[in-house]
Amino acid sequence: MEIIKNYINGLWVESVTARTFTSTNPATGEVVGLVTLSGPEDVRQAVDAAAAAFNTWRKVPAPERAEIIMNISNKLSEHKEELAQLLTTEMGKVLHEARGDVQEAIDIAAYMAGEGRRLFGFTTPSELKNKFCLTMRDPVGVIAAISAWNFPVAIPAWKIMPALIAGNTVVFKPASEAAAVGAAFVKILAAAGVPAGVVNLVIGSGSEVGNAIVDNPKVKAISFTGSTATGTGLYARAAALNKRVSLEMGGKNAIIVMNDADLDLAVDGIVWSAYGTTGQRCTACSRVIVHKDVKEELVKKLVVRIKELKIGNGLDASVDVGPVINKGQLEKIHEYVQIGVAEGAKLVAGGQITAISSLPGGSFYLPTLFDGVSRNMRIAQEEIFGPVLSVITIDSLEEAIDVNNDTAFGLSSSIYTANINAAFTAMRELTTGIVYINAGTTGAEVHLPFGGTRGTGNGHREVANAAFEFCTEWKSVYVDY
Ligand code: ALA
Repeated sequence: MEIIKNYINGLWVESVTARTFTSTNPATGEVVGLVTLSGPEDVRQAVDAAAAAFNTWRKVPAPERAEIIMNISNKLSEHKEELAQLLTTEMGKVLHEARGDVQEAIDIAAYMAGEGRRLFGFTTPSELKNKFCLTMRDPVGVIAAISAWNFPVAIPAWKIMPALIAGNTVVFKPASEAAAVGAAFVKILAAAGVPAGVVNLVIGSGSEVGNAIVDNPKVKAISFTGSTATGTGLYARAAALNKRVSLEMGGKNAIIVMNDADLDLAVDGIVWSAYGTTGQRCTACSRVIVHKDVKEELVKKLVVRIKELKIGNGLDASVDVGPVINKGQLEKIHEYVQIGVAEGAKLVAGGQITAISSLPGGSFYLPTLFDGVSRNMRIAQEEIFGPVLSVITIDSLEEAIDVNNDTAFGLSSSIYTANINAAFTAMRELTTGIVYINAGTTGAEVHLPFGGTRGTGNGHREVANAAFEFCTEWKSVYVDY
Protein backbone atom coordinates (compact mmCIF):
# COMPACT_ATOMS: atom_id res chain seq x y z
CA MET A 1 0.00 0.00 0.00
CA GLU A 2 1.39 3.42 -0.96
CA ILE A 3 2.19 5.58 2.05
CA ILE A 4 0.34 8.89 2.41
CA LYS A 5 3.18 11.39 2.77
CA ASN A 6 4.00 14.85 3.99
CA TYR A 7 4.37 17.66 1.46
CA ILE A 8 7.39 19.82 2.25
CA ASN A 9 8.94 22.42 -0.04
CA GLY A 10 7.08 21.04 -3.06
CA LEU A 11 8.02 17.38 -2.49
CA TRP A 12 6.02 14.42 -1.19
CA VAL A 13 8.21 12.89 1.50
CA GLU A 14 7.91 10.33 4.26
CA SER A 15 8.67 11.42 7.80
CA VAL A 16 12.32 11.18 8.82
CA THR A 17 11.04 9.06 11.72
CA ALA A 18 10.05 6.29 9.26
CA ARG A 19 6.95 5.68 11.42
CA THR A 20 3.45 5.12 10.07
CA PHE A 21 -0.10 4.72 11.29
CA THR A 22 -3.30 3.56 9.65
CA SER A 23 -6.34 5.65 8.93
CA THR A 24 -9.57 3.65 9.09
CA ASN A 25 -13.10 3.95 7.75
CA PRO A 26 -15.46 4.43 10.71
CA ALA A 27 -18.35 2.79 8.83
CA THR A 28 -16.50 -0.44 8.07
CA GLY A 29 -13.36 -0.54 10.20
CA GLU A 30 -11.37 -1.05 6.99
CA VAL A 31 -8.01 0.59 6.39
CA VAL A 32 -8.22 3.74 4.24
CA GLY A 33 -4.50 4.41 4.10
CA LEU A 34 -1.11 3.88 5.63
CA VAL A 35 0.07 7.32 6.72
CA THR A 36 3.46 8.76 7.56
CA LEU A 37 3.71 9.78 11.24
CA SER A 38 5.85 12.89 11.64
CA GLY A 39 7.97 14.23 14.45
CA PRO A 40 9.65 17.55 15.35
CA GLU A 41 12.33 17.29 12.63
CA ASP A 42 9.66 17.12 9.91
CA VAL A 43 8.05 20.20 11.42
CA ARG A 44 11.39 22.02 11.39
CA GLN A 45 11.84 21.27 7.70
CA ALA A 46 8.30 22.31 6.83
CA VAL A 47 8.57 25.58 8.78
CA ASP A 48 11.95 26.36 7.20
CA ALA A 49 10.44 25.82 3.75
CA ALA A 50 7.49 28.06 4.59
CA ALA A 51 9.76 30.75 6.04
CA ALA A 52 11.96 30.75 2.92
CA ALA A 53 8.96 30.85 0.58
CA PHE A 54 7.46 33.77 2.52
CA ASN A 55 10.18 36.08 1.21
CA THR A 56 8.99 35.64 -2.36
CA TRP A 57 5.28 34.87 -1.89
CA ARG A 58 4.60 38.07 0.09
CA LYS A 59 5.96 40.13 -2.83
CA VAL A 60 3.78 38.47 -5.47
CA PRO A 61 1.03 41.02 -6.24
CA ALA A 62 -2.18 39.99 -4.52
CA PRO A 63 -4.17 39.83 -7.80
CA GLU A 64 -1.56 37.37 -9.06
CA ARG A 65 -1.83 35.28 -5.89
CA ALA A 66 -5.57 35.42 -6.52
CA GLU A 67 -5.19 33.72 -9.89
CA ILE A 68 -3.67 30.69 -8.16
CA ILE A 69 -6.38 30.72 -5.51
CA MET A 70 -9.06 30.87 -8.20
CA ASN A 71 -7.34 27.87 -9.82
CA ILE A 72 -7.67 26.08 -6.48
CA SER A 73 -11.39 26.78 -6.49
CA ASN A 74 -11.71 25.45 -10.04
CA LYS A 75 -9.60 22.36 -9.37
CA LEU A 76 -11.61 21.59 -6.24
CA SER A 77 -14.75 21.77 -8.38
CA GLU A 78 -13.22 19.38 -10.92
CA HIS A 79 -12.28 16.89 -8.20
CA LYS A 80 -15.31 17.48 -5.98
CA GLU A 81 -16.85 14.05 -6.33
CA GLU A 82 -13.68 12.01 -5.73
CA LEU A 83 -12.72 14.22 -2.78
CA ALA A 84 -16.22 13.85 -1.31
CA GLN A 85 -16.10 10.06 -1.71
CA LEU A 86 -12.73 9.91 0.05
CA LEU A 87 -14.02 12.23 2.77
CA THR A 88 -17.03 9.98 3.45
CA THR A 89 -14.80 6.92 3.40
CA GLU A 90 -12.33 8.35 5.87
CA MET A 91 -14.52 10.21 8.38
CA GLY A 92 -18.00 8.87 7.75
CA LYS A 93 -20.28 11.83 7.03
CA VAL A 94 -22.92 11.04 4.43
CA LEU A 95 -21.98 11.75 0.86
CA HIS A 96 -24.22 14.74 0.21
CA GLU A 97 -22.75 16.39 3.33
CA ALA A 98 -19.25 15.53 2.13
CA ARG A 99 -20.05 17.32 -1.13
CA GLY A 100 -21.15 20.31 0.96
CA ASP A 101 -17.85 20.18 2.85
CA VAL A 102 -15.89 20.39 -0.42
CA GLN A 103 -18.26 23.08 -1.69
CA GLU A 104 -17.37 25.30 1.29
CA ALA A 105 -13.73 25.03 0.24
CA ILE A 106 -14.62 25.89 -3.37
CA ASP A 107 -16.57 28.91 -2.12
CA ILE A 108 -13.93 30.27 0.25
CA ALA A 109 -11.25 29.94 -2.42
CA ALA A 110 -13.42 31.88 -4.88
CA TYR A 111 -14.22 34.48 -2.21
CA MET A 112 -10.57 34.96 -1.26
CA ALA A 113 -9.52 35.12 -4.92
CA GLY A 114 -11.87 38.10 -5.17
CA GLU A 115 -10.25 39.67 -2.12
CA GLY A 116 -6.97 39.75 -4.06
CA ARG A 117 -8.27 42.88 -5.78
CA ARG A 118 -9.47 44.45 -2.53
CA LEU A 119 -7.50 43.76 0.69
CA PHE A 120 -8.49 47.29 1.58
CA GLY A 121 -6.59 49.69 3.77
CA PHE A 122 -7.92 53.21 4.36
CA THR A 123 -6.80 56.81 4.25
CA THR A 124 -7.58 59.57 6.76
CA PRO A 125 -6.86 63.29 6.98
CA SER A 126 -3.81 64.17 9.05
CA GLU A 127 -3.77 66.57 11.98
CA LEU A 128 -1.00 68.41 10.16
CA LYS A 129 -0.63 70.24 6.87
CA ASN A 130 1.24 68.51 4.07
CA LYS A 131 0.93 65.10 5.63
CA PHE A 132 -0.92 62.05 4.34
CA CYS A 133 -2.11 59.10 6.49
CA LEU A 134 -2.89 55.62 5.25
CA THR A 135 -3.10 52.05 6.43
CA MET A 136 -2.16 48.81 4.73
CA ARG A 137 -2.29 45.16 5.69
CA ASP A 138 0.95 43.19 5.92
CA PRO A 139 1.07 39.39 6.08
CA VAL A 140 2.22 38.01 9.43
CA GLY A 141 4.58 35.34 8.01
CA VAL A 142 4.37 31.59 8.53
CA ILE A 143 0.91 30.58 9.74
CA ALA A 144 0.09 27.14 11.11
CA ALA A 145 -3.28 25.66 10.20
CA ILE A 146 -4.23 22.93 12.66
CA SER A 147 -7.56 21.48 11.69
CA ALA A 148 -10.26 19.08 12.83
CA TRP A 149 -11.51 15.86 11.24
CA ASN A 150 -15.19 16.78 11.06
CA PHE A 151 -14.82 19.24 8.16
CA PRO A 152 -11.55 17.96 6.72
CA VAL A 153 -11.69 19.99 3.50
CA ALA A 154 -13.69 23.07 4.49
CA ILE A 155 -11.80 23.92 7.68
CA PRO A 156 -8.30 23.76 6.16
CA ALA A 157 -9.58 25.88 3.27
CA TRP A 158 -11.05 28.44 5.69
CA LYS A 159 -7.63 28.77 7.26
CA ILE A 160 -5.35 28.48 4.24
CA MET A 161 -7.14 30.62 1.61
CA PRO A 162 -7.19 33.89 3.60
CA ALA A 163 -3.62 33.25 4.75
CA LEU A 164 -2.44 32.81 1.16
CA ILE A 165 -4.23 35.75 -0.41
CA ALA A 166 -2.81 38.01 2.29
CA GLY A 167 0.74 36.85 1.43
CA ASN A 168 1.43 34.40 4.26
CA THR A 169 2.84 30.91 3.88
CA VAL A 170 1.43 27.88 5.65
CA VAL A 171 2.26 24.74 7.58
CA PHE A 172 -0.85 22.58 7.64
CA LYS A 173 -1.41 19.80 10.18
CA PRO A 174 -4.61 17.88 9.43
CA ALA A 175 -6.32 15.78 12.06
CA SER A 176 -4.88 12.26 11.98
CA GLU A 177 -8.40 10.86 11.49
CA ALA A 178 -8.61 12.75 8.19
CA ALA A 179 -4.99 12.55 7.00
CA ALA A 180 -5.78 10.98 3.61
CA VAL A 181 -8.28 13.74 2.84
CA GLY A 182 -5.76 16.35 4.02
CA ALA A 183 -3.16 14.99 1.62
CA ALA A 184 -5.67 14.83 -1.27
CA PHE A 185 -6.59 18.47 -0.59
CA VAL A 186 -2.93 19.55 -0.65
CA LYS A 187 -2.42 17.64 -3.91
CA ILE A 188 -5.10 19.85 -5.45
CA LEU A 189 -3.40 22.99 -4.13
CA ALA A 190 -0.11 21.88 -5.68
CA ALA A 191 -1.81 21.07 -9.00
CA ALA A 192 -3.41 24.52 -8.96
CA GLY A 193 0.03 26.13 -8.99
CA VAL A 194 0.77 26.94 -5.34
CA PRO A 195 4.57 27.35 -5.42
CA ALA A 196 6.91 25.06 -3.48
CA GLY A 197 7.13 25.93 0.22
CA VAL A 198 4.04 28.14 0.23
CA VAL A 199 1.82 25.38 1.68
CA ASN A 200 3.43 22.47 3.53
CA LEU A 201 1.70 19.43 4.97
CA VAL A 202 2.91 17.67 8.13
CA ILE A 203 0.88 14.76 9.43
CA GLY A 204 1.22 13.71 13.04
CA SER A 205 -0.08 13.97 16.57
CA GLY A 206 -0.94 17.12 18.47
CA SER A 207 1.50 16.33 21.24
CA GLU A 208 4.48 15.94 18.89
CA VAL A 209 3.75 17.83 15.69
CA GLY A 210 1.34 20.37 17.19
CA ASN A 211 3.70 21.31 19.99
CA ALA A 212 6.72 21.51 17.67
CA ILE A 213 4.74 23.87 15.43
CA VAL A 214 3.78 26.12 18.34
CA ASP A 215 7.33 26.17 19.73
CA ASN A 216 9.03 26.97 16.41
CA PRO A 217 10.06 30.67 16.49
CA LYS A 218 9.46 31.04 12.74
CA VAL A 219 5.75 30.24 13.16
CA LYS A 220 4.09 33.58 13.80
CA ALA A 221 0.43 32.63 14.17
CA ILE A 222 -1.62 29.49 14.73
CA SER A 223 -5.18 28.89 13.62
CA PHE A 224 -6.68 25.96 15.50
CA THR A 225 -9.97 24.09 15.23
CA GLY A 226 -10.53 21.16 17.56
CA SER A 227 -11.27 20.16 21.11
CA THR A 228 -11.37 22.55 24.06
CA ALA A 229 -8.70 20.61 25.97
CA THR A 230 -6.23 20.71 23.05
CA GLY A 231 -7.06 24.28 22.05
CA THR A 232 -6.68 25.79 25.50
CA GLY A 233 -3.43 23.86 26.05
CA LEU A 234 -2.09 25.17 22.76
CA TYR A 235 -3.19 28.70 23.64
CA ALA A 236 -1.32 28.63 26.94
CA ARG A 237 1.82 27.30 25.26
CA ALA A 238 1.64 29.95 22.53
CA ALA A 239 0.91 32.74 25.00
CA ALA A 240 4.22 32.08 26.73
CA LEU A 241 5.85 32.80 23.36
CA ASN A 242 3.56 35.78 22.65
CA LYS A 243 2.09 34.18 19.52
CA ARG A 244 -1.19 35.00 17.89
CA VAL A 245 -3.71 32.17 18.11
CA SER A 246 -7.18 31.77 16.66
CA LEU A 247 -9.27 29.13 18.43
CA GLU A 248 -12.49 27.48 17.32
CA MET A 249 -13.38 24.82 19.84
CA GLY A 250 -16.95 23.79 20.16
CA GLY A 251 -20.51 24.49 21.05
CA LYS A 252 -23.58 23.62 23.04
CA ASN A 253 -25.89 25.09 20.47
CA ALA A 254 -29.60 25.49 21.05
CA ILE A 255 -32.74 25.86 18.99
CA ILE A 256 -35.52 27.82 20.71
CA VAL A 257 -39.04 26.86 19.65
CA MET A 258 -41.72 29.36 20.68
CA ASN A 259 -45.44 28.57 20.95
CA ASP A 260 -46.21 30.42 17.70
CA ALA A 261 -43.57 28.55 15.68
CA ASP A 262 -44.23 26.47 12.58
CA LEU A 263 -43.52 23.13 14.28
CA ASP A 264 -42.94 21.15 11.09
CA LEU A 265 -40.37 23.68 9.96
CA ALA A 266 -38.76 23.52 13.41
CA VAL A 267 -38.64 19.71 13.33
CA ASP A 268 -36.84 19.83 9.95
CA GLY A 269 -34.27 22.26 11.33
CA ILE A 270 -33.80 20.37 14.59
CA VAL A 271 -33.37 16.93 12.99
CA TRP A 272 -30.90 18.22 10.45
CA SER A 273 -28.92 20.30 12.97
CA ALA A 274 -28.83 17.60 15.67
CA TYR A 275 -28.24 14.46 13.63
CA GLY A 276 -26.55 15.74 10.46
CA THR A 277 -22.85 14.78 10.50
CA THR A 278 -24.00 12.43 13.28
CA GLY A 279 -24.02 15.41 15.62
CA GLN A 280 -20.29 15.88 15.12
CA ARG A 281 -20.31 19.55 14.17
CA CYS A 282 -19.21 22.38 16.40
CA THR A 283 -22.47 24.00 15.24
CA ALA A 284 -24.64 20.94 15.92
CA CYS A 285 -27.83 21.52 17.87
CA SER A 286 -27.65 19.64 21.17
CA ARG A 287 -30.40 21.48 23.05
CA VAL A 288 -33.97 22.28 22.12
CA ILE A 289 -35.44 25.00 24.33
CA VAL A 290 -39.15 24.73 23.79
CA HIS A 291 -42.17 26.64 25.08
CA LYS A 292 -44.32 24.51 27.39
CA ASP A 293 -47.46 25.00 25.22
CA VAL A 294 -45.94 23.12 22.27
CA LYS A 295 -43.45 20.82 24.00
CA GLU A 296 -45.54 17.62 23.88
CA GLU A 297 -46.42 18.05 20.23
CA LEU A 298 -42.84 18.90 19.25
CA VAL A 299 -41.38 15.90 21.07
CA LYS A 300 -43.98 13.61 19.46
CA LYS A 301 -43.08 14.88 15.98
CA LEU A 302 -39.35 14.61 16.71
CA VAL A 303 -39.63 11.00 17.86
CA VAL A 304 -41.47 10.07 14.66
CA ARG A 305 -38.79 11.69 12.51
CA ILE A 306 -35.90 10.26 14.52
CA LYS A 307 -37.23 6.73 14.13
CA GLU A 308 -37.33 7.21 10.35
CA LEU A 309 -33.63 8.10 10.14
CA LYS A 310 -31.60 5.42 8.39
CA ILE A 311 -28.19 4.74 9.90
CA GLY A 312 -25.33 3.21 7.94
CA ASN A 313 -22.46 3.80 5.56
CA GLY A 314 -22.51 7.38 4.28
CA LEU A 315 -21.62 6.20 0.78
CA ASP A 316 -25.11 4.65 0.56
CA ALA A 317 -27.37 7.42 -0.78
CA SER A 318 -30.34 6.18 1.27
CA VAL A 319 -28.48 6.66 4.58
CA ASP A 320 -29.29 9.74 6.70
CA VAL A 321 -26.86 9.29 9.60
CA GLY A 322 -23.34 7.90 9.23
CA PRO A 323 -21.00 6.46 11.85
CA VAL A 324 -19.26 8.38 14.62
CA ILE A 325 -15.56 8.88 14.12
CA ASN A 326 -14.18 6.01 16.22
CA LYS A 327 -14.82 3.55 19.05
CA GLY A 328 -13.48 5.95 21.68
CA GLN A 329 -16.04 8.57 20.69
CA LEU A 330 -18.77 5.90 20.62
CA GLU A 331 -17.98 5.06 24.25
CA LYS A 332 -17.86 8.72 25.25
CA ILE A 333 -21.30 9.36 23.72
CA HIS A 334 -22.74 6.36 25.52
CA GLU A 335 -21.23 7.48 28.82
CA TYR A 336 -23.00 10.84 28.40
CA VAL A 337 -26.28 9.07 27.72
CA GLN A 338 -25.85 7.10 30.94
CA ILE A 339 -25.05 10.34 32.77
CA GLY A 340 -28.28 11.83 31.38
CA VAL A 341 -30.31 8.87 32.59
CA ALA A 342 -28.65 9.05 36.01
CA GLU A 343 -29.38 12.79 36.18
CA GLY A 344 -33.08 12.01 35.74
CA ALA A 345 -33.64 12.98 32.11
CA LYS A 346 -36.20 10.90 30.20
CA LEU A 347 -34.78 8.94 27.27
CA VAL A 348 -37.41 9.00 24.51
CA ALA A 349 -35.41 7.80 21.49
CA GLY A 350 -32.12 6.00 20.85
CA GLY A 351 -29.62 5.82 23.69
CA GLN A 352 -27.66 2.84 22.38
CA ILE A 353 -24.62 1.78 20.43
CA THR A 354 -26.07 -0.10 17.48
CA ALA A 355 -24.65 -2.92 15.39
CA ILE A 356 -25.32 -3.14 11.66
CA SER A 357 -24.86 -6.73 10.51
CA SER A 358 -23.46 -5.81 7.08
CA LEU A 359 -20.99 -3.37 8.73
CA PRO A 360 -19.57 -5.29 11.70
CA GLY A 361 -16.51 -3.02 12.04
CA GLY A 362 -18.53 0.21 12.11
CA SER A 363 -19.07 2.69 14.98
CA PHE A 364 -22.77 3.52 15.05
CA TYR A 365 -24.90 5.25 17.67
CA LEU A 366 -28.68 5.57 17.52
CA PRO A 367 -29.94 9.14 17.16
CA THR A 368 -30.92 9.96 20.73
CA LEU A 369 -33.47 12.28 22.30
CA PHE A 370 -33.85 13.20 25.97
CA ASP A 371 -36.97 14.94 27.26
CA GLY A 372 -37.31 16.45 30.74
CA VAL A 373 -33.81 17.90 30.75
CA SER A 374 -33.09 20.74 33.12
CA ARG A 375 -30.77 23.52 32.15
CA ASN A 376 -27.94 22.64 34.53
CA MET A 377 -27.65 18.92 33.84
CA ARG A 378 -24.32 17.86 32.41
CA ILE A 379 -25.99 16.71 29.17
CA ALA A 380 -27.34 20.27 28.82
CA GLN A 381 -24.01 21.93 29.53
CA GLU A 382 -21.15 19.80 28.14
CA GLU A 383 -20.32 19.18 24.50
CA ILE A 384 -21.02 15.53 23.64
CA PHE A 385 -20.13 15.69 19.91
CA GLY A 386 -22.54 12.98 18.90
CA PRO A 387 -26.20 12.44 17.98
CA VAL A 388 -27.65 13.31 21.39
CA LEU A 389 -30.28 16.01 21.80
CA SER A 390 -31.80 17.38 25.03
CA VAL A 391 -35.23 18.99 25.33
CA ILE A 392 -35.52 21.76 27.93
CA THR A 393 -38.97 23.25 28.57
CA ILE A 394 -39.43 26.99 29.24
CA ASP A 395 -42.28 29.43 29.96
CA SER A 396 -41.23 32.58 28.14
CA LEU A 397 -38.91 34.09 25.55
CA GLU A 398 -36.94 35.71 28.34
CA GLU A 399 -36.33 32.35 29.99
CA ALA A 400 -35.45 30.75 26.64
CA ILE A 401 -32.80 33.39 25.97
CA ASP A 402 -31.43 33.04 29.46
CA VAL A 403 -31.12 29.24 29.11
CA ASN A 404 -29.55 29.60 25.67
CA ASN A 405 -26.88 31.99 26.93
CA ASP A 406 -26.11 30.05 30.08
CA THR A 407 -23.43 27.61 28.88
CA ALA A 408 -19.68 27.68 28.62
CA PHE A 409 -19.92 27.87 24.79
CA GLY A 410 -21.28 30.49 22.42
CA LEU A 411 -21.11 29.40 18.80
CA SER A 412 -24.56 29.14 17.25
CA SER A 413 -28.19 29.51 18.27
CA SER A 414 -31.58 29.65 16.63
CA ILE A 415 -35.17 30.64 17.24
CA TYR A 416 -38.34 29.45 15.54
CA THR A 417 -41.13 31.98 15.92
CA ALA A 418 -43.75 33.74 13.81
CA ASN A 419 -43.42 36.89 15.90
CA ILE A 420 -41.13 39.49 14.37
CA ASN A 421 -40.58 41.20 17.72
CA ALA A 422 -39.49 37.92 19.30
CA ALA A 423 -37.18 37.30 16.34
CA PHE A 424 -35.52 40.69 16.66
CA THR A 425 -35.31 40.43 20.43
CA ALA A 426 -33.57 37.07 20.03
CA MET A 427 -31.22 38.50 17.40
CA ARG A 428 -30.17 41.14 19.91
CA GLU A 429 -30.10 39.04 23.08
CA LEU A 430 -28.64 35.67 22.02
CA THR A 431 -24.96 35.93 22.90
CA THR A 432 -23.56 33.51 20.33
CA GLY A 433 -21.34 34.30 17.34
CA ILE A 434 -23.99 33.04 14.93
CA VAL A 435 -27.79 33.40 15.23
CA TYR A 436 -30.41 31.86 12.95
CA ILE A 437 -34.05 32.89 12.72
CA ASN A 438 -36.41 30.11 11.58
CA ALA A 439 -33.52 27.84 10.56
CA GLY A 440 -31.36 25.29 12.37
CA THR A 441 -27.98 25.98 13.97
CA THR A 442 -25.84 24.74 11.07
CA GLY A 443 -25.21 25.92 7.55
CA ALA A 444 -22.92 28.92 7.95
CA GLU A 445 -21.82 30.49 4.66
CA VAL A 446 -18.27 31.62 3.92
CA HIS A 447 -18.97 35.34 3.39
CA LEU A 448 -20.04 35.95 7.01
CA PRO A 449 -17.64 35.74 9.97
CA PHE A 450 -17.61 32.30 11.62
CA GLY A 451 -16.79 31.79 15.27
CA GLY A 452 -18.16 32.08 18.75
CA THR A 453 -18.14 33.72 22.13
CA ARG A 454 -17.18 32.39 25.60
CA GLY A 455 -15.43 28.99 25.56
CA THR A 456 -16.00 28.50 21.84
CA GLY A 457 -13.12 30.73 20.87
CA ASN A 458 -10.84 33.58 21.78
CA GLY A 459 -12.39 36.48 19.93
CA HIS A 460 -11.20 35.72 16.41
CA ARG A 461 -13.46 34.92 13.51
CA GLU A 462 -12.79 32.79 10.45
CA VAL A 463 -13.73 33.31 6.79
CA ALA A 464 -15.15 36.47 5.24
CA ASN A 465 -13.04 39.61 5.61
CA ALA A 466 -12.96 38.98 9.35
CA ALA A 467 -10.25 36.38 8.66
CA PHE A 468 -7.82 39.17 7.78
CA GLU A 469 -7.82 40.42 11.37
CA PHE A 470 -6.03 37.19 12.23
CA CYS A 471 -3.71 36.70 9.28
CA THR A 472 -2.51 40.26 8.70
CA GLU A 473 -0.88 43.05 10.66
CA TRP A 474 -2.12 46.59 10.26
CA LYS A 475 0.60 49.00 9.21
CA SER A 476 -0.05 52.75 9.61
CA VAL A 477 1.92 54.99 7.26
CA TYR A 478 2.47 58.76 7.57
CA VAL A 479 3.76 60.56 4.53
CA ASP A 480 5.12 64.09 4.89
CA TYR A 481 5.21 66.09 1.68
N1 ALA B 1 -20.75 25.46 7.65
C1 ALA B 1 -20.74 24.49 8.69
C2 ALA B 1 -21.83 24.72 9.67
O1 ALA B 1 -22.27 25.84 9.81
C3 ALA B 1 -19.45 24.44 9.40
O2 ALA B 1 -22.19 23.80 10.34
